[in-house]
Amino acid sequence: MNGQDSIIEQYKAQRRQSAQWHERARKVFPSEGATHFARIFNPYRPYITHASGINKWDLDGNKYIDYVLGHGALLLGHNHEDIVEAVQEQITRGVLYGENHTLEVEWAELIREMMPGAEKIMLFPCGNEANMMAVRLARVHTGRSKVLRFEKHYHGWSDELASPAESGVNQNQVTIIPQNDLERLEEELSSEQYAVLFTEAGGAFLGGRTPIDPDFVRQIPTLTRKYGTLWALDEVVTGFRVAPGGWQSVIGVKPDLTSLGKCIGGGLSAGALVGRPEIFEPLKPGGVPGRQVMHGGTWNANPLTAAAGIAACKLLKTGEPQKKAAESAAYLRREGNKILKTKGINGAFYGKSSIAYLYLGPVDSDFSDDTLPPVKDLDKLTDPAMMPVFNRLLLHLLQRGVSNLIGSVYIFSYLHTEKDIDQTLHALKDALETMLAEGTLKS
Ligand SMILES: Cc1ncc(COP(=O)(O)O)c(C=O)c1O
Repeated sequence: MNGQDSIIEQYKAQRRQSAQWHERARKVFPSEGATHFARIFNPYRPYITHASGINKWDLDGNKYIDYVLGHGALLLGHNHEDIVEAVQEQITRGVLYGENHTLEVEWAELIREMMPGAEKIMLFPCGNEANMMAVRLARVHTGRSKVLRFEKHYHGWSDELASPAESGVNQNQVTIIPQNDLERLEEELSSEQYAVLFTEAGGAFLGGRTPIDPDFVRQIPTLTRKYGTLWALDEVVTGFRVAPGGWQSVIGVKPDLTSLGKCIGGGLSAGALVGRPEIFEPLKPGGVPGRQVMHGGTWNANPLTAAAGIAACKLLKTGEPQKKAAESAAYLRREGNKILKTKGINGAFYGKSSIAYLYLGPVDSDFSDDTLPPVKDLDKLTDPAMMPVFNRLLLHLLQRGVSNLIGSVYIFSYLHTEKDIDQTLHALKDALETMLAEGTLKS
C-alpha cells in the first residue's frame, strides 16, 4: 500500500461511525451522500454531532477547529449565548405564525440602521432567493430581460444565477463577462438590453477568492446609470461580515440593490434584498397592471430566524466582531506565509477581511502585500488542476483537527484565538511537510 492510500485508511479508521452514516447517506442523497456540492469529499467529510464556539465534534469523537463556520454564516461562532437565548425564548412562543409579527420589523430596522442604502427590505429564507427576486424586480423596473454577470462570481444556483458549467439551466438571457474589464463592461451595457448587472462583493467566491478591483467597482454605478441597467451587489457573504455597512461601506459605493444572507440570520437560514424604494414598487398591491410582482414563501421572516437575526445584528452593529475576526485572519495569513517560505513551497495566503485563501503555485516576484492577490493572472487562483492537491491537504488537515472549506478557504469568527490559530498553523506545517514527503506536493 502506498503512502497515499495509507492516509485514507487512517482517516477512515478514525471515522468508522461516520463511514457507516456515509453509506446510509449515499443510499438517499444523490451527490455521493452529500447535501451541498462543497461537502462532497473523498472518502467523506466527518458526520458532526455538535459544535460550540469555533469547535465541532464528529460521531467518532474527533474534535475540529472550524473554518467552515456554516459556509461563512457564523462570524459569531457556533451557539453564541445571545442567539441561543433568543432562539430558546422564541421557540416556546411559536416558530411560524404565518402572520405579521414585531420581530420581523425589528430585524429589518436593525438591517437598515447598519446599511443606510437599505431603504426598503424584503426577507427570504436564503441568499439565493434574494438574488432571484433582484432579477425579477430589475426586469419589471427596466422593462428589459437580460442579466449581466461576471465570470466565476457565485450568486446561487437558480437559472439566471447558476454557473454556466451546470447542466439543465436556462441561461438564454444571461451574458457572463470577465471582471475588472471596464471597456468590455461598457460595451455590453451600451447595448441597453440589460435589466441588471450582478457583482459579488469583494470578488468571485466567498468574499473574493478571485478579488475584484475596487477601483473597477467604483466605476460601475456611473456606467449602469448611463445605460439604464440596475446594479445588484451580492453581499450574501460580505454583508455584516466585512463591516456593519457591508463591503459597500468599505469601498464607498451605493448599489441599486443589495442582497444579504448568511451572517444576518445569526446561523439560522436567512436572506434579504434591500435597496431604493422605487425598485420595490411592483410589490405594492393595486399597482400598475403588468408591473406586479408577487412574493410568497412559507418561511419568509419566520419568527425563529428573526429572533436569531436580531440578536446577531445587535452584536454585528458594533463592528467589534468584524475587527477581531479580521485580525485573526491576518495573523493566519502572515504566519502561514512564513511557513510556506521556510518550506520552499510555492504559494501564498492572501485576502482581506475575515476570510483567508490559500493559493498554491508560483507567486509573482513583487508579491509582498498579503491583502492583495499573489498573482497578476487571477485565473491561476482557482486553477482546477490544483483541486486534487487541496483535497489532499484537507484530508491531512482534518486528520490533524482542522476543518476548512475546499482545502483552501479559512473562514474566521471573532472567537478564534491566537492559540487556536497557532494550533492550526502547526497542523498546516505538519500536513504540508507530510505532503512534500509523500510527493503529493512539490516544493
Ligand atoms: C455570494 C453568494 N451569493 C449568494 C449565495 C447563495 O446564498 P444561500 O446559500 O443562502 O442561498 C451564496 C452562498 O454561498 C454566496 O456565497
